[in-house]
Amino acid sequence: MKKFQAVLAAVICTVLMTALAGCGGGSSGKKIVRIGHNQATDHPTHIALLEFEKFVESRLGDKYDIEVFPSELLGSQTDMVQLTQTGAIDFCVASNSILETFSDNYTLFNMPYLFASSEAYHAAMDDPEITGPIFESTKKAGFEAVTWIDAGTRNFYTVSTPIESPADLKGLKIRVQQSPTNVEMMRLLGGSATPMGFGEVYTSLQSKIIDGAENNEMALTSNGHGDVCKYYSYDMHQMIPDILIGNSAFLNDMPQEGRTVFEEGFAVVNKVEREEWTLAVEAAKNKAEKDQGVTFLYPDTAPFQEICLPMHESVLEQYPDLRQFYEAIQEYNQKFAGEESKGGAGS
Ligand code: GCU
Repeated sequence: MKKFQAVLAAVICTVLMTALAGCGGGSSGKKIVRIGHNQATDHPTHIALLEFEKFVESRLGDKYDIEVFPSELLGSQTDMVQLTQTGAIDFCVASNSILETFSDNYTLFNMPYLFASSEAYHAAMDDPEITGPIFESTKKAGFEAVTWIDAGTRNFYTVSTPIESPADLKGLKIRVQQSPTNVEMMRLLGGSATPMGFGEVYTSLQSKIIDGAENNEMALTSNGHGDVCKYYSYDMHQMIPDILIGNSAFLNDMPQEGRTVFEEGFAVVNKVEREEWTLAVEAAKNKAEKDQGVTFLYPDTAPFQEICLPMHESVLEQYPDLRQFYEAIQEYNQKFAGEESKGGAGS
């Protein structure tokens, strides 16, 4: 792992030294806008960001040169958030889980079983009264969220243990994202939480450092985890959005014309990614089942929920300011009651 990190650091240094030469102003006088993310080039996030690049450059190509860096080329999500914070890069995509370590406000969307259906999840994330104050809350820290990106539903998957109930997690080392909420959720469910960056998961599964992980279906195919993990269990514990964040100074200092086009571009990212997401999840499920031999399980989610639900009150007691947003989300849950999906595309 140390060797991997050293290689990664060397790659980051090289890319950054090349990419950052000239501090954002290209020789053509265009502002180079760098966006980093951790997904492969076949992933909906990358496809959506390329559409952003096209959208902005077709309107303001004489002023901005958008460059999208996939696959952790600029580092892990934590690294990229820090680079965005300082303005070394302009934007990055970070999981809401990672943002929890930068601002407590993001804890809200990491709560297990917060959203009762994907319809409620989408409606809440589209509601600026819920997301606005949270997205803006990191401005003083140097960055802000400009749109959210669907990352489906997170479920457990393991190398060799079918997870049919929480009891099956007992004694298993499960990789979780590096956030206190995820570690606590895993503790309550009885597994042993192993926090690590996304890029380390494949080798950790392969070398049996961990017994499983939890993620959406794309991790099986786009990241190859389905080559190693043969059981994917729809316990539906979280719908954690990805968030596109931008450097606040860059956004604030932009001329109005640029700002308007970028705002429209952020909406394009959200729309394109969501359209691509439904198709990508369906294709991932097919590929995992047919080519990788993954078995999909549909356990009763109630016992998992029962264990996790007390977390809601404890999070709200710890962060009382989040209660108003939590209650607004409950209204969406009620509005869309009866539309709960049981896994698969669109979830
Ligand atoms: C999903 C999510 C990523 C995140 C990853 C993870 O793939 O889209 O933003 O990094 O899960 O589990 O770390």
